[in-house]
Amino acid sequence: MVNTNAQKFVLVTGGAGYIGTHTCIELLAAGYQPVVVDNLCNSREISLDRVAAISGVKIPFYSLDVGNAEALREVFSRYDFVGVLHFAGLKAVGESVTQPLRYYQNNVAATLVLAQVMQECGVERLIFSSSATVYGDPASVPISEDFPTSTTNPYGASKLMVEDILRDVCKVPNSGWKVCLLRYFNPVGAHISGLIGEDPSGTPNNLMPYVSQVAVGKLKQLGVFGDDYDTIDGTGVRDYIHVVDLAIGHVKALDKLMTEQPCCLTYNLGTGSGYSVLQMVKAFEQAAGVCVPYKVMPRRAGDIAQCYADPVMARDELGWTAELGLERMVADSWRWQSNNPKGYE
Ligand code: NAD
Ligand code: WQD
Repeated sequence: MVNTNAQKFVLVTGGAGYIGTHTCIELLAAGYQPVVVDNLCNSREISLDRVAAISGVKIPFYSLDVGNAEALREVFSRYDFVGVLHFAGLKAVGESVTQPLRYYQNNVAATLVLAQVMQECGVERLIFSSSATVYGDPASVPISEDFPTSTTNPYGASKLMVEDILRDVCKVPNSGWKVCLLRYFNPVGAHISGLIGEDPSGTPNNLMPYVSQVAVGKLKQLGVFGDDYDTIDGTGVRDYIHVVDLAIGHVKALDKLMTEQPCCLTYNLGTGSGYSVLQMVKAFEQAAGVCVPYKVMPRRAGDIAQCYADPVMARDELGWTAELGLERMVADSWRWQSNNPKGYE
């Protein structure tokens, strides 16, 4: 069979990280050729060795900061990229509150540099990792793409700023830009091989890595942030999406941009279903066959009661729906964590 995607090089910024590694595998499976740039500020190069073990392909890797225009230009001069998947970014909400300048510099200013270099080099297809955090505290659920946006912390603001910048870039008359803003809900799970997964540095902020580390004995007990929300059991409800489904969503988005006229498209990547903290804990315990001790704590500042996507637009326009359910999410998280109790260390 003819491979119609032959020599379709794709730049993957932040490709050594959690979502980037999984997306590289799906890009390869779809016939694209990822090239990774990452400054390894929140990842390790070994993650790409694991990608090679899974896929049989050693992905070209450049250790550089996306804010370094010269270094980026050098990479752009080596490959005829069809597009860029821009994952590189800092993502800890609490940290963004104490280090706003670092977050705006890294997430906004570096993205400007990337976009400028792309424009210079005539590469104008871009997929940006946005977040459901741009919906703030939504008036209702499920959340569709036309809901109003607002943010409560510098991390969320950095995502919304980049969205605004990219929308403006696409509005320029005769712009050639084809941009897709993907708003992820709560990515969890890991590749079925158990070779790659989420490897947070320090104590995890997010629920699933915390639960996994309690299950593996690295942390003592989970703190459940509030059990008095107006939800099924009083604990917060989120739209957890398997990272492999999320990765496939990026391939579908790239496929669409390959044939699209200049545009700026926005899609939710979520399942459309919400699970509570305690439902997640129970599912994880069943998959892992271990007990996850927890203690109810006060609500975490800034948290909302529930958040889940209306995923219909991605289904209708990208032909994408999340396929992997809760059992796979927790089983795969556990496989990764139990095979790699210290992450990539
Ligand atoms: P991650 O930290 O595992 O991956 C991000 C990667 O980017 C890391 O490898 C890091 O070293 C790299 N990086 C950061 N700044 C860089 C820079 N200036 N230059 C080069 N490399 C840089 O995070 P992830 O979970 O894979 O998230 C990927 C993207 O998706 C991020 O932009 C994040 O904000 C966004 N996102 C993540 C979630 C989530 O819950 N994981 C949800 C919504 C959106
Ligand atoms: C999920 C639920 C917590 C930890 C964050 C970012 C968002 C996006 C995804 C990047 C909530 C509860 C959590 C714990 C708990 N990231 N919880 N104990 O807050 O929905 O979203 O990650 O874009 O921007 O804000 O995810 O995993 O932190 O929390 O009870 O130790 O688990 O209260 O209800 P969140 P989370």
